Amino acid sequence: MSIARIVDKHLVWPLRKHYHKLHNLFATNSFAVRFYDDHLIRAFRSDQPTVSDISDHLPTIFSEIVAAFPKLIVELGTRGGESTKTILAAAKHSDATVLSIDINDCSGVEIATDFKFSWHFVQADDIIFENDAFQKWCITHALEPRIDVLFIDTSHLYEHTRAEIQAWFPHLSPRATVIFHDTNLNRTSRTYNNGILNIGWDNQRGVIRAIEELLGKHLNEGEVFAGVAAEWLIHHYPNSFGLTVLKKLTR
Ligand SMILES: C[S@@+](CC[C@H](N)C(=O)[O-])C[C@H]1O[C@@H](n2cnc3c(N)ncnc32)[C@H](O)[C@@H]1O
Repeated sequence: MSIARIVDKHLVWPLRKHYHKLHNLFATNSFAVRFYDDHLIRAFRSDQPTVSDISDHLPTIFSEIVAAFPKLIVELGTRGGESTKTILAAAKHSDATVLSIDINDCSGVEIATDFKFSWHFVQADDIIFENDAFQKWCITHALEPRIDVLFIDTSHLYEHTRAEIQAWFPHLSPRATVIFHDTNLNRTSRTYNNGILNIGWDNQRGVIRAIEELLGKHLNEGEVFAGVAAEWLIHHYPNSFGLTVLKKLTR
């Protein structure tokens, strides 16, 4: 390990962590997140989520999904279930089925009883599951293997994100919505709505690079942007590690 890396690991980084903690003792978000939907409030047992690395994006995720009026939603990456709860609440508006896949066992995530009927959790590597079992899973559940909303929030690594795009995009319906989290991942940045700092890691632009490759376009993930590229409408939010929404523009 080089001297610069040793200094970074043992001195700069621990100091930054302390600075973040100190800053967050006094920081507040300028714009709080609030839910005005009964399903969302039931899913979270509150009209406000706990502040986290994804909480700023939950209203966007919810609205995009409700607007898509999906039948089948696939979530890659469940962890503690914040995105899952949001997806399940949105799914209620179109009676959609939600398939969540995570390499770790997230079946114990606290999901309110009336959402459980539409939620299916599978513990698997998402690439292996797509290759070996997705079509069969759809047949077993009497569903077309056509995904209306795909939510991707897994390893955030370039090769893996590329593999996810290659594996899962062929199953997208003609007007599908794809939502990626962590498209602006950094070791340290002002993340949550203006105020609170959070600690991330440098994924070498892993997710956004894979999206750039898909769209054939260079993107500045540090800015808010919207545009059309290839067959996709793109809307990007740089805060809270970045959220990028792609909508298929099939005519
Ligand atoms: C950032 S967390 C997801 C956060 C979650 N969406 C939320 O709102 O709380 C990333 C998740 O991706 C999962 N993961 C990482 N690599 C994976 C893979 N190859 N296949 C499936 N899941 C994976 C991890 O186990 C982890 O739970």
